Amino acid sequence: MSMKILVVLLITTTTGTAVARPPEWDSQEGNQLQDVITVPRGSTVKLRCPATGDPRPTITWLRAGQDITGSDRDGRHKIRIRSWTLAISEITESDGGSPYTCIVENALGSINHTFKLIVTGASEVLLLAREDELRMISLGSPDYTNVVVPIEGIQRAAAIDYDVVDGFAYWTDVETEVIRRARLDGSGVEDVVTTQVESPTGIAVDWIGRNLYWTDEGTQRIEVIRLDGTSRKVLIYENLDKPRALVVDPSEGYMYWTDWGEDPKIEKAAMDGSNRTVLFKRSVHWPNGLAIDYTARKLYWGDARTDKIEYANLDGTGRRVLLDEGLSHIFSLTLLGNHVYWTNLGGESIERVHKTTGADRQVIVELSDLMGLRAVNVQKTEGETNPCQPNNGGCSHLSAVS
Ligand SMILES: *[C@@H]1O[C@H](CO)[C@@H](O)[C@H](O)[C@H]1NC(C)=O
Ligand SMILES: *[C@@H]1O[C@H](CO)[C@@H](O)[C@H](O)[C@H]1NC(C)=O
Repeated sequence: MSMKILVVLLITTTTGTAVARPPEWDSQEGNQLQDVITVPRGSTVKLRCPATGDPRPTITWLRAGQDITGSDRDGRHKIRIRSWTLAISEITESDGGSPYTCIVENALGSINHTFKLIVTGASEVLLLAREDELRMISLGSPDYTNVVVPIEGIQRAAAIDYDVVDGFAYWTDVETEVIRRARLDGSGVEDVVTTQVESPTGIAVDWIGRNLYWTDEGTQRIEVIRLDGTSRKVLIYENLDKPRALVVDPSEGYMYWTDWGEDPKIEKAAMDGSNRTVLFKRSVHWPNGLAIDYTARKLYWGDARTDKIEYANLDGTGRRVLLDEGLSHIFSLTLLGNHVYWTNLGGESIERVHKTTGADRQVIVELSDLMGLRAVNVQKTEGETNPCQPNNGGCSHLSAVS
């Protein structure tokens, strides 16, 4: 390079610095900043906020509003200022909680971006009601690690569900005759329903309408209450004998339940109790477990007398048998991802099978006194759409408890 060109270059550069610029995301990097990053547990993730600006901007990283640049206690966070990078190694469930924010600033301005990490293989759990305790079984861990949720005073927990929005588990206790809730770390224990409950064995959270539905074999009713414990209402009380399992489909505004009484059947109704219809009566004897595949739009059920797991479309068409071997008095049934999970009455294991092929049957956990079971993705809301859109039938079911 000749001296002359070098001088020209120097002048250009100098002139450049004179035009100061606030920080801007570096579009030359080509990749847009993502909001949500999905990472497998145990891996390393690099969050990058490449930017330009003059003077060269500085970068700061925050987690839940706290500066993490200086506090690298566990040695898993590596910050590279020059390459705009925060690398987090050995990703665990806890990295999926609060989001990470980069702040890029110079004298002329400040920009920022927030990343939320979704840790896969860590967020899928089975919640289990087991006599005097609740348990959480991690479906992401190879050995299906299970832990007791530390809650006092449970006597006979029967049914359980989870609200992904606020992170509360709701369960029924058929001995103390209450419905309660708590977070999965055992905090925030609260009674939700304490009067006029006798034998509530089915429970379902409407995570969109913010309501809790339950069946009661004792009072022979299906009721609803706001998640905060207000505005209780009886929705169905006629022609119910032993209402048992209950699931809701808030995106369409329908609920589904089983009745294993004198006239056994599986029914559906709008979530305000209207439009009640019988879906199945033929070859239904003790229908116990019920689950919705929100993605494939199917209803699954287990029958403790025919000893079968069956499924069908949500309108009752396309009925099929998934499994009819080696089942003995199914008590509870649930579905997540590609698998159906169930417990048997008096059985000592939780099993699973592929939801359409009936293959890959596997024992997940061996434990006694298994009752209600619900598989949930604690970081995701399945089947979530806005129920108030006109093509979803408006908001009529939400006014059930207004
Ligand atoms: C991020 O940027 C937004 C929009 O400019 C601003 O309102 C917010 O305060 C910034 N956050 C932080 C942590 O600097
Ligand atoms: C009840 O069914 C009727 C006829 O199928 C339908 O027009 C109406 O929207 C349904 N109501 C609810 C609340 O789903």
